[in-house]
Amino acid sequence: MKNNTNRPNGLQPLIHQRWSPRAFTSQAIEPAVLERLLEAARWAPSCYNEQPWRFVIAHASDTEGFAGILSTLVPFNQAWAKSAALLGIAVAKLAFTNNGKPNDWARYDTGQAMAQLALQAEYEGLKVHQMGGYDPEACLKVLGIPEGYVAAAAFAIGYEGEPMTLDPQFQTGEVALSERKPLSDLVFHAKFGA
Ligand SMILES: Cc1cc2nc3c(=O)[nH]c(=O)nc-3n(C[C@H](O)[C@H](O)[C@H](O)COP(=O)(O)O)c2cc1C
Repeated sequence: MKNNTNRPNGLQPLIHQRWSPRAFTSQAIEPAVLERLLEAARWAPSCYNEQPWRFVIAHASDTEGFAGILSTLVPFNQAWAKSAALLGIAVAKLAFTNNGKPNDWARYDTGQAMAQLALQAEYEGLKVHQMGGYDPEACLKVLGIPEGYVAAAAFAIGYEGEPMTLDPQFQTGEVALSERKPLSDLVFHAKFGA
């Protein structure tokens, strides 16, 4: 269980409690629950309402599909993500559909869809752990992602498990206080840095 005591009061509870565990139970995700997670992503805003996000997902019960996505992750992530109930790759379509011009907001919008998915997951009692540690080229090959699309992030979803089920290298991270930069480093008034 993450130590969230350094988070300020007054945050929306799902934001307050969200974090990215590496320990998951073996409990499967009900199809109706998963559909609500994907609906939450689907209703995210996007530039010109392009909805550039696509999701390639596999439940752990789909042994072959799950192994395919797992194989695209770096070994560090494979070591814990192998126990998740579901693995996925968030894919971004790089051009606007109506004119073929580059969509410079494709990754931004895909991240926004993932943020909505993660909060819906919290609402459902699930946890999401996003990953940048994957091989984008392997994703294209293994998952059959067509030209014009990129693997924007990987993610694992499941019910939070016990830290001691993890390899020792991951255990302290599960209970450590999560840190953030102060707002004064992030927010400026009228001019960058001010
Ligand atoms: C785009 C992205 C890439 C990330 N890559 C990895 C990763 O490859 N492996 C990993 O264990 N965690 C990864 N994380 C999780 C972050 O380390 C984590 O979100 C951050 O430390 C803040 O912790 P919290 O989500 O528990 O609040 C990633 C998160 C995001 C959003």
